[in-house]
Amino acid sequence: MKRIGVLTSGGDSPGMNAAIRAVVRKAIYHDLEVYGIKNGYQGLMDGNIERMTLGSVGDIIHRGGTILFSARSEEFKTDEGQFRAIEQLKKHDIDGLVVIGGDGSFQGAKKLTEKGFPCIGVPGTIDNDIAGTDYTIGFDTSLNTIIDAVDKVRDTATSHERTYIIEVMGRDAGDLALWAGLAVGAESILIPEEKEEFSSIVQRLKNGHDRGKKHSIILLAEGVGSGFEFGKRIEEIAQLETRVTVLGHIQRGGSPTGQDRVLASRLGARAVELLIEDQGGRMVGIQKNVLVDYTFDEVFNVEHTIDKGMYKLSKELSI
Ligand code: F6P
Repeated sequence: MKRIGVLTSGGDSPGMNAAIRAVVRKAIYHDLEVYGIKNGYQGLMDGNIERMTLGSVGDIIHRGGTILFSARSEEFKTDEGQFRAIEQLKKHDIDGLVVIGGDGSFQGAKKLTEKGFPCIGVPGTIDNDIAGTDYTIGFDTSLNTIIDAVDKVRDTATSHERTYIIEVMGRDAGDLALWAGLAVGAESILIPEEKEEFSSIVQRLKNGHDRGKKHSIILLAEGVGSGFEFGKRIEEIAQLETRVTVLGHIQRGGSPTGQDRVLASRLGARAVELLIEDQGGRMVGIQKNVLVDYTFDEVFNVEHTIDKGMYKLSKELSI
């Protein structure tokens, strides 16, 4: 292994820059050349590839977003697109690739590996929805952004004695809603992995109201449905004044937390080690604070699950 490439793909997440920095610096430390690929797989097919140096990753560890930009490419899902990508990699004499992104990005990395080009996946997504790792890069920062936003909403919720539905991201996963809900003491947490009867949600809100609670906060994962629809039903059936806040893409921005910077640095560096060891087709992760790695198939064949104990606790604490 003499030359490696690195790209970010799919939805960006805070800490991706710290991961790029770790890949570049660790590779140079081991006397490898590193090439940055801009705009994800689209940029790879288009040959948007540049040599990176120690200096090109200076002053980025604290920045949100990704200096390599990101994209979602339909064309890359085809065999033709993947062969075009490999052609570009060969043209630049690149022998291995680090892909920082979510499960969609890893599907692409798996395809390249199967076509003979070794790739390593580094899990970067705010959704925390990838099996084989306890945390993904960006989850902790996004969680803290949500907590900060809900704390602010709570002030006005109390002043006006309202119920607030806060819709958060996560695609089909409920981790962001669950962790944030537990952290802000939400009355209800609605996630795709656990179903709750609408009547029991309403009953809990009414009990709180009758006990003199000044406000109620409900965390709703986007995978459950629209916050606005849900808010309308709550207002109609529970007869409580309700407002809805959809946090949207602010959840994807901002300076990464210490947790995310450290995670990104460890995972990025480990990805380079695996390429040096000639182990393509794997994802790096962290479990119980120990670095691990699995084949892409091992990752895809296990369903990501939420921590059921945490969900149960959230119910116990919001009686
Ligand atoms: O996967 C990250 C994520 O932010 C999801 O939580 C969300 O559903 C999706 O990406 C939004 O995608 P886009 O930025 O393309 O609207």
